[in-house]
Amino acid sequence: MSAIITVSNLQKYFKVYHHHRGIIGSVRNLFTHEYTLIHAVDGISFDIRPGELVGYLGPNGAGKSTTIKMLTGLLVPTGGDLLVNGFVPWRSRQEYVSRIGAVFGQRTTLWWDLPVIESLELLQHIYHIPPDRFDENLAEFRQILELDPFLNTPVRSLSLGQRMRADFCAALLHNPALLFLDEPTIGLDVVAKERIRQFILHVNREHGTTILLTTHDLSDVEKLCDRVMIIDKGRLLFDGALEALKSQFGGKRELVVDFAESYSDLTIPGATITRSEGLRTVYQFDRNTVTASELISRLSTRFRLHDLAVREPDIETTIRRIYEEKLLEP
Ligand SMILES: Nc1ncnc2c1ncn2[C@@H]1O[C@H](COP(=O)(O)OP(=O)(O)OP(=O)(O)O)[C@@H](O)[C@H]1O
Ligand SMILES: [Mg+2]
Repeated sequence: MSAIITVSNLQKYFKVYHHHRGIIGSVRNLFTHEYTLIHAVDGISFDIRPGELVGYLGPNGAGKSTTIKMLTGLLVPTGGDLLVNGFVPWRSRQEYVSRIGAVFGQRTTLWWDLPVIESLELLQHIYHIPPDRFDENLAEFRQILELDPFLNTPVRSLSLGQRMRADFCAALLHNPALLFLDEPTIGLDVVAKERIRQFILHVNREHGTTILLTTHDLSDVEKLCDRVMIIDKGRLLFDGALEALKSQFGGKRELVVDFAESYSDLTIPGATITRSEGLRTVYQFDRNTVTASELISRLSTRFRLHDLAVREPDIETTIRRIYEEKLLEP
């Protein structure tokens, strides 16, 4: 099937002007226009097919939100090409936004002072949603997102989890073919996160909605995305299956050991020491060559142990490693 999103060599540069302080500085500001050019998105290309649910990952400042803002028509690219569902987002913004949905975890798209239901009704008019479709969609989302207890509450009085559910409903009332999510689970407790994840899956599977999602939460990615893209410093470092990423770069696990007393030589075969502080030592091992229980038995025959924990590297660490060790050069 042909792509629903085509991004080629997309760029966004921001000019950040230097600001001199003080009286002399403010005079200088009048005459000099020195600036630093920030390459927020620096030549990114990818295709997304209809119905895909793709994770767009990367450390803080990588350029994820900037990309989403260009995809949703909020920002005009500095260079490159962008075609989403037949639209150049920023060029036909008015018509375009009535065909996509977007949820930004950091801010609401609803009217702050209006009760939730009135916000939704306003959107019905803005998007020209036929009454029967509106009723049908609202009935569905009300039930799944459990909106009823706060439908008449002003948005500003909602808890974060409630606000996010209302935002999801608002983003999907007009049956968009595409949904862009920028950190939709940020700040939510585990139960609320799980509810949102189930909803994202429902929308993708039942409505066939194509979804691009940014998140810092590994569980979001594990539960939702088959395909992930990783960016850093505005460049695409990885684009492929989550499983491929994990087996390629996430193969290392950590064993954290608290010893009951101090020993001079803590080396054991099959693991390397990455950190040692006080009585705590962190070993790294490759899960394809040795198991945690083998290591633990090697340790316990030689040392007195107080406590143990096995840790999986999180996606953030994996991404950092990929970047710092230059494992993937774009
Ligand atoms: N309006 C702006 N003016 C100047 N610089 C900007 C602007 N918006 C973003 N940037 C810069 O562009 C870079 C990418 O920012 P962006 O918000 O896209 O990162 P992000 O990947 O979403 O990070 P986070 O995970 O922290 O949300 C950062 O260096 C940021 O400071
Ligand atoms: Mg962001």
